[in-house]
Amino acid sequence: PPVSPRITVIGTGYLGATHAICMAVLGFEVLGVDVDETKIRRLGEGEVPFFEPGLPPLLAKATDSGRLRFTTSFEEAAEFGDIHFICVGTPQRQGSDAADLRYVDSAVSALAPHLRRPALVVGKSTVPVGTATRLTELVRSLAPAGDQVELAWNPEFLREGYAVDDTIRPDRLVFGVASARAEERLRAAFAPVIASGTPVVVTDLTTAELVKVAANSFLATKISYINAMAEICEATGGDVHSLASALAYDDRIGGRFLKPGLGFGGGCLPKDIRAFVHRAEELGVGRAVTFLREVDAINKRRRSRTVDLIRELAGGDLTGVRVAALGAAFKPHSDDIRDAPALDVARALHRSGAHVTVVDPEATDNARRAHPELRYATDAISAATGADVVALLTEWPQFQEIDPHLMGSVVTHRRMVDARDALDATAWREAGWTCRALGRP
Ligand code: UDX
Repeated sequence: PPVSPRITVIGTGYLGATHAICMAVLGFEVLGVDVDETKIRRLGEGEVPFFEPGLPPLLAKATDSGRLRFTTSFEEAAEFGDIHFICVGTPQRQGSDAADLRYVDSAVSALAPHLRRPALVVGKSTVPVGTATRLTELVRSLAPAGDQVELAWNPEFLREGYAVDDTIRPDRLVFGVASARAEERLRAAFAPVIASGTPVVVTDLTTAELVKVAANSFLATKISYINAMAEICEATGGDVHSLASALAYDDRIGGRFLKPGLGFGGGCLPKDIRAFVHRAEELGVGRAVTFLREVDAINKRRRSRTVDLIRELAGGDLTGVRVAALGAAFKPHSDDIRDAPALDVARALHRSGAHVTVVDPEATDNARRAHPELRYATDAISAATGADVVALLTEWPQFQEIDPHLMGSVVTHRRMVDARDALDATAWREAGWTCRALGRP
């Protein structure tokens, strides 16, 4: 049987750490690499530096097996690995819609000069189309092993909160390759995942890069589509939630990513659609994706609509109004506050003169660091104590279990804006609350 390739994972953030840990659990020898010494030390000590359900016990298991180690040395990585996964971030560039590729470029530039034997460098990061071709040239020019080093693209589709499952049992694997040898190596690296029945799409580098942005654009479009219908419902007295359920019965439409509400956020969807538009414009085909600008605009309007609803409930003016904001993370089961709709709403309320107290089961520390101007509480009841309006902004299960009578006893007015349609409005109304939701009369 073929010998399992030894794997390095460069970049141990959200994507990289999960990938490294899962690969070790699947039986490979793995070396995690990062320039951040603190991160490497913490991971080496068995601590996952972010919140992800199910990951800490897998890190312990992988470490105990002796198959997973961490380093800051690219030289060590180059000597160790047959396959090098590039898992660094590609955030939005400051003051622009474009993706910032500095981490990808520096990871490749730090690794390649040490590559003295045959190896495959595999990009996993979400990048503007054309990056893989450019990196192929870069690797060839820097690696002592020359054309013994190849480049491939293997986009990652994992969702925060489900990262382990999405890595071990993905919907599909996409291999962007320039040779049969690269495909063979990727198949070896994913042998256990393929053996459990995961479909593999083998394609060229360019298409592989595009699959990722096309998928994220489609998902974002689906969410904004139903949120656009919410706007229409708000103007006409319709109910977007009944509308969405009726649409979802049509298999061709389907109910997933058709949930109306405060819209999408996080480190991927918003910046990926912006970077896609930017790249398409650079390539002279901007017209093909102008609709994505609308998708972004509809998504942002959900945030201002939520602020308007809270203002309306508060009597028309937010000055001095005490608001309890339930949620800070961009979605439940995550501590990620990047482009979080919930925090955006909290900040807008604060700017309008409201006194905002935020509560989130996991994201409070991150939120406090980024926005020290807001107040923070450790639980929903303390956040709501003395509040004039309560707003549910991230649909954590903990918030759905709140007893409306108990919360009703600590607020000044029983006024609730449910921006995620997460609460049982009938039960809350029976407990004396005035409830408003997005896209509902
Ligand atoms: C997303 C993609 O799903 C994943 O494939 C990709 O690799 C990275 O980006 P993630 O950002 O973890 O993953 O979150 P996801 O679960 O997809 O949710 C994205 C956002 O959309 C969240 O803010 C969520 O609240 C929102 N959303 C999702 C809706 O508003 N309505 C829906 O129906 C579904």
